[in-house]
Amino acid sequence: MLNFFYKIKEDNMEKFQLYATMGAGFESVVAKELQALGYETRTENGRVFFEGTQEDIVKTNLWLRTADRIKILLEEFTATSFEELYDQVYDYDWAGLIPVDGQFPVKGRSVKSKLHSEPNIQSITKKAVVDKLTKQYRRRGFLPEVGAFYQLDVQIVKDLVRISLDTTGSSLFKRGYRIEHGGAPLKENFAAAMLKLTPFDGTHPLIDPMTGSGTIAIEAAMIARNIAPGKLRDFAFSDFDWFNHQLLKNAKEEALTKETTEHAEIWASDIDESVLAVAKLNANNIGVLQDIKFKQVAVKDFKTELENGIIIANPPYGKRLKDEESARALYHEMGEVFRPLTSFSKYYLTSDLEFERYYGERATKRRKLYNGSIRTDFYQYWAKRK
Ligand SMILES: C[S@@+](CC[C@H](N)C(=O)[O-])C[C@H]1O[C@@H](n2cnc3c(N)ncnc32)[C@H](O)[C@@H]1O
Repeated sequence: MLNFFYKIKEDNMEKFQLYATMGAGFESVVAKELQALGYETRTENGRVFFEGTQEDIVKTNLWLRTADRIKILLEEFTATSFEELYDQVYDYDWAGLIPVDGQFPVKGRSVKSKLHSEPNIQSITKKAVVDKLTKQYRRRGFLPEVGAFYQLDVQIVKDLVRISLDTTGSSLFKRGYRIEHGGAPLKENFAAAMLKLTPFDGTHPLIDPMTGSGTIAIEAAMIARNIAPGKLRDFAFSDFDWFNHQLLKNAKEEALTKETTEHAEIWASDIDESVLAVAKLNANNIGVLQDIKFKQVAVKDFKTELENGIIIANPPYGKRLKDEESARALYHEMGEVFRPLTSFSKYYLTSDLEFERYYGERATKRRKLYNGSIRTDFYQYWAKRK
């Protein structure tokens, strides 16, 4: 059995095996972000592994724009029977991780493995942790589970068991700036990942002509100004009793000193005045209201003096039959208005496989992306720069 996690109480510098999780297809985007933060990475389906200390747990939770969560890999072993699973989970020093009153729900998942019943995997793992903790804390079969939250994961892939601890809490897409308003906003980390698939770095103008609640424009302004995406929120590790709580405070203070003010123009427009009001509130919540020029304008009336920039949009998909025709009419308008802007690179996300036909131009490149459960394409039209 490989035990990756020890001596945590004695030494804050202990290195952990960490990994980021992300939506399908965004592994390389997250790996690049991690590399830019200075980590060596190893990619698997749905996860990117790296090593780090408590400080790195803080840094990656605070700074990664495109990931879902950061987890600590606690144990890795093979098991083909429930006895093996129980014994190897039991072997771990759980009292080193979970205090006597800690809550520790277990989520189980199994793929292509002998042990395939997820409810059983979950309950056997839970039982092994409970048995070990009651022994270590000398309790008689009862743990109150009323304290801090230690979310455990047991994942089995081809009989390889991995036990992990979530350090993030609510997923990283929840930056804490969004007000609820219904509608179908993009997740914040999805919008950031779309931007990371473009050359955008804040030095060229950016336009989102169908901005809705403003997610793409707000994420763009945060990238342009080097604003830490986690600056408004807290994380699960803040409740771990062995964690150095000063680290997050320090990292947030340092992040503020790294924010910049200079960047190229960011424009966000929409036909609907009421969603623009929501977008402005959201932008204000994260401190980028002054960085975005919001304007109520329909695509067909859109004009710009800007050049050499990026147009990026998440138009309606027209998924219901009755909406398909109007969505396609809009794609046609988009083509009429944006195609002539040849100095711009353009990026459109839609689930409509016929988008190019209605837009009137073949994309330079298409990339399949899953927007939640909806299969979409990211249609990319690269600029013809003079
Ligand atoms: C899928 S939503 C965009 C959601 C946005 N990305 C977000 O995260 O909130 C599509 C947006 O296109 C806007 N829209 C629809 N037709 C339009 C038109 N003709 N001109 C400009 N905007 C339009 C809608 O008002 C809506 O806000």
